[in-house]
Amino acid sequence: MSKTLVAYFSRTGNTKLVAEAIYGALSGDRTLATMAEAGDLRPYGLLFVGFPVQTHSVPYPVESFLKTVPEGKTIALFSTHGSVTGSSLSREALEYASILVARARLIGTFSCRGKVSMKALEVLMQSPEHEAWADMAASAATHPDESDLADARSFARWVRTLASQGHYRGL
Ligand SMILES: Cc1cc2nc3c(=O)[nH]c(=O)nc-3n(C[C@H](O)[C@H](O)[C@H](O)COP(=O)(O)O)c2cc1C
Repeated sequence: MSKTLVAYFSRTGNTKLVAEAIYGALSGDRTLATMAEAGDLRPYGLLFVGFPVQTHSVPYPVESFLKTVPEGKTIALFSTHGSVTGSSLSREALEYASILVARARLIGTFSCRGKVSMKALEVLMQSPEHEAWADMAASAATHPDESDLADARSFARWVRTLASQGHYRGL
């Protein structure tokens, strides 16, 4: 199996925890790095790329990173979000990210909730455009929890198996 990169962007540590779980579930030649540290993506056969949902979308440094993913590269995306799992608020950034890597081979996506710092919540609740997800965010306080991390590990192994068999699918 070729080299695997788990690259993440994380402001408060939630996405980093998920990235570490994914990295820990894999075996063989693999690297865990922030997007800033990742360097040249060409040597990797499989990329896992993770980010926090921010203002309904993909943080700007993540958008820039995703645009550098080489054409035809096999990739899996993961995200953490304060909003309730399954809500459009939790999905839209991942959908946008998948468009940004449309020239790559998207093999799967994973997301789970991530706690929102009280400081961020207080600020965000002031702006009407954040009200919808900020209202949901309080119940994310315990995430990512052990169950989320176990799911992330299963996701990693499933992606790795599909990639080794040459399968891929979109969202
Ligand atoms: C400035 C800011 C904007 C956010 N915007 C959203 C959002 O639009 N939708 C959402 O579900 N969560 C939102 N969140 C919550 C984060 O996605 C969530 O806490 C995530 O787990 C943070 O990941 P990190 O610890 O890796 O930075 C926002 C958080 C911050 C601080």
